[in-house]
Amino acid sequence: MLDLQNTSRSVYDAAIIQFPKILDDRGNLTFIEARRHIPFDIKRVYWIYDVPGGESRGSHAYRELQEVIVALSGSFDVFLDDGLAQKTVSLNRAYYGLYVPNMIWRRMQHFSTNAVALVLASLPYDANEYVKDYPNFKKMNQTQQRR
Ligand code: TYD
Repeated sequence: MLDLQNTSRSVYDAAIIQFPKILDDRGNLTFIEARRHIPFDIKRVYWIYDVPGGESRGSHAYRELQEVIVALSGSFDVFLDDGLAQKTVSLNRAYYGLYVPNMIWRRMQHFSTNAVALVLASLPYDANEYVKDYPNFKKMNQTQQRR
């Protein structure tokens, strides 16, 4: 699989990954193996749940961290912005993941009732990974895009 960590800065590099789906009358099953279905080694997993109506999460970018976001239950939108282009991806199936490269501004919003957002991350938690100031993010990305 492509390793986009040091090159990608575009929302067009954010892509849907379809995971295996084992259909069964007893209930369906989906699985993920690092490096086989995910283009990085998974260093951390977290999930967002019990989101009150109208709330959004994660208005920021990560310097180096890549992630795959899955709507394990319910639905929500992921808004992506690379400083030039924007796009919104709706997630509503447990067998789809959204790959988000580093240095993409992203916000999760429009959560349905009982939505669960699973996030597979390429790095452990590090507060220094966050770019939380949008004008600063834009400046950082424009510097990259001019190279
Ligand atoms: P944050 O990533 O800022 O959430 P969001 O981007 O959705 O608003 O995380 C919220 C809080 O949780 C923050 O104090 C840091 C803490 N946190 C951890 O300790 N470990 C983690 O893996 C994550 C994702 C957050």
